[in-house]
Parts: sequence; structure tokens; C-alpha cells
Amino acid sequence: MSGSKIINYVVTPAANASENIFQGEITVPGDKSISHRSIMLGSLAKGKTEVTGFLEGEDSLATLKAFAKMGVEITGPESGKLTIEGVGIHGLEEPDSALDLGNSGTSMRLMSGLLSGQHFKTVLVGDESLSGRPMKRVTNPLTEMGADIETHDGTAPLRINANNKLTAIEYDMPIASAQVKSCLLLAGMYADGKTCVTEPGVTRDHTERMLKAFGYPVNVEGNKVCIEGGHELTACDIQIPADISSSAFFLVGASICSGANLLIKNVGINPTRTGVIDILKLMGANISLENSRMFGGEPVADIRVQHSQLKGIKIPEELVPLAIDEFPVLFIAAACAEGQTVLTGAEELRVKESDRIQAMADGLVTLGVDATATDDGIIINGGELGGGTVKSFDDHRIAMAFAIAGLKASDTINIIDCANVATSFPGFVELCGSINLNIAITEQ
Ligand code: S3P
Repeated sequence: MSGSKIINYVVTPAANASENIFQGEITVPGDKSISHRSIMLGSLAKGKTEVTGFLEGEDSLATLKAFAKMGVEITGPESGKLTIEGVGIHGLEEPDSALDLGNSGTSMRLMSGLLSGQHFKTVLVGDESLSGRPMKRVTNPLTEMGADIETHDGTAPLRINANNKLTAIEYDMPIASAQVKSCLLLAGMYADGKTCVTEPGVTRDHTERMLKAFGYPVNVEGNKVCIEGGHELTACDIQIPADISSSAFFLVGASICSGANLLIKNVGINPTRTGVIDILKLMGANISLENSRMFGGEPVADIRVQHSQLKGIKIPEELVPLAIDEFPVLFIAAACAEGQTVLTGAEELRVKESDRIQAMADGLVTLGVDATATDDGIIINGGELGGGTVKSFDDHRIAMAFAIAGLKASDTINIIDCANVATSFPGFVELCGSINLNIAITEQ
């Protein structure tokens, strides 16, 4: 996990850089959501699963270490490659201590589902941020399925007691959450009968796709997904595309930076994840897809993005779950756009790794932008960006969003507490440096 060192960023305004900025070809690390799921399903499969493109970030490594602690032999990762010797759906072993999932909500929520059906008990712990995030959204429906889970007042640590009698449920999700849906599908593999989850809005479907790739039957009809207990997973090879959420920093960066022209290679463009492209295009961005193809059950393309003058928009609410992780950097796009951008229907942003609405509003105001947080979104009037010191609240995506603001800021931006960038995007600073956005790291 991110240890106790305090890491801050000092972003030199791009206007001071001597060479061409945000030009050429780049590749960002592997998709975080798919990386987590590759470890989970690969571990529970029969046979050897080979994974390429795995994200070697702290979050997905936390999942990897947790499964290793439950007796799964995993070799790697080395340059994104790893091999998992699957133990079969009932082959996990009791870990000798609590499973530490660091900053990773995806690990905790998905694993709570599959661990609810094990013949041994587990305790799931996380860092300060994860320990403050709501877990009842998963423990309530799991309890309905017969799981024996204790929370600390609705938050981690989660204590999951041994149980081999889960019962299928029909669950209407009150919020659009891929983590809740996936948690229940994974629990459904251990339940008697058919578990069905209905979602109020489309959310990422990597779990459904990967279950099918491992030969586990899943039935998707409209916004309802059903799974029956008692089947098996068969090992397969997984190629993980580059993460569109990590690409988002460069989609916005190149859009706001004069003269920019970037090609981002091999990016996952699963339609449940491309809200960021749709929103930027509505704002007038110049983005095109090249070389579209399939990559192990997931659509992939190279994305070309060139500078253009963005304009403020009212963001359509149906795009919110499809761009849920990209709003911090989309707010930077809004700050650089002409006119007003209004986001509503995004109260979920308040319970991410930080309260992303407040964190971004505070930082934008510090940089001289007219930004007002609302209960379920934000109103941003585009204008000039100055410099200043902003807090990331230990949130990787807030830190990286403000780093991208350096492309348009008139003065230096200091960003406090950036160590958690390593949870999702190892090498972010170096990659920015390679295309002439200079970020210095200071350690305290
Ligand atoms: C994720 C789902 C989303 C997203 C998170 C990853 C996943 O969370 O914010 O970063 O991998 O399933 P919610 O399901 O809580 O919206």
C-alpha cells in the first residue's frame, strides 16, 4: 500500500515548456477493473490462466496478494504478464490473517460476494479512505442471500463468517453500481438457484463478459443479469486492454492543450465505459477511434485526440454511470471550456476514494475557477486557470486531474498527497514528462 511517505507534485505550467506538448503516441497501463476480475476468476477456475496487460498498480496488486494468501499460486506480474494456477471454485484456503485491500473499493466489494460462500471465515480491511466507504450496499443484499457478514457500522472491516448455504435472490439495485452487481453475481455462483440483479442504469459489464470467457453461463436481458449457482469456471487466457479511465487524463489534456495531437494505443472501449468520450465530444472535442478490434472479449481501439476549443454543456444524466471515474478530469475540461457546464445526478461521486465533488470544487476555486458544488453534482463556469496549492485528499484521480490542469494554468500548481496515484497509474509522472508536461515529485 502507499506507505507513510507524503508525496506531492509540483506541476510546471505547460506554457513554460520549451518543446511540443502532448504530441505523438502513448500507451497507458492496463484496465484496473479487468485486472481485478482476472485474478478473481483465474483463481477460481480449473486450470492455468495466463494474463497479459495486467495493471501493476497497488489496487490490483492488493487483490493478487489476497488470493495468494488464500493459497492460489500466482507467478508474476512481470511487464504485465502473470500466470494463475486456478484452484477451482471451492479450492480457496483460509488465510492466516486479515486480507488488506488498501485503497481498493473494487477488491472489497467484489470479494465480499465470493467470500460469502466459502467454508472459512475472512476479515477484509482497508486504508483510512476505504474504511470510510459505504459497505451496506453489498452487505445488505448478501445478508438477504444468507451470508453471515459483520460490518463496523456499515463500513470496513468486514468479517465474513464461514457459510456454505447461500440462497439466490432477485435484487433491484437502488443505485447504478457495477461493484454491487458484480458482488452479487460472484456470490450467485455459490447460491442455490438463480440470482438475478436488475440495474437502474447501465454499468460496466466486465464481470459478465469475463464469466462467459471462463465458460460460466450468465444470462443478460436488458438491464437484468442472472446467474445460477453450481457451475464451473474453466481457465482461459486474458488480454487486458489499456484503461480508458487512465486514458481520460490524456483525452482531456490533449483537448485543452494548443497544438496537441496524441494517439493513445490499445484502449478498452467497452460501451459501458466510454461516457468520457461521449461527454467530451458533446463539449466539442476532436476525438476519433482508429484500428477498432476485439481483445479477449473486450472491444479495443487506438484513440486519436487533437486540441479543440471546448464548450460548456449540461451533462446528460444517463452518461453519469458510464463516466463515473472520469469526472475529476472532466471538471478540468469544463474549467477550460467556454461557458457553463452543469453536472447533476452524480451524488455517487461523494462516496468515491474522496468526496470528489467537494475536492474538485475546492481545488478549482483555489485555481481561480468559478465552481460551485451542489448535492449531486457541480456547476463550473469556464475561464482562466491560475496556480496555487490544492489538496488531492489522497485520491489518485483528483491528483492526476489537477496535474492535467497544469497544461492551461498560468502559474505553478502544487498538489498535496499524491502517493495514491500508484493505486491505478504507476508511471503517470514519467508518461506526462515524456510528452512534455513536467511534474516534479517532492517527498516529505
Ligand atoms: C468499478 C465500478 C465503479 C468504479 C470503480 C470500479 C468496478 O464503482 O467507480 O472505480 O470495477 O466494478 P461503482 O460500482 O461503485 O460505481
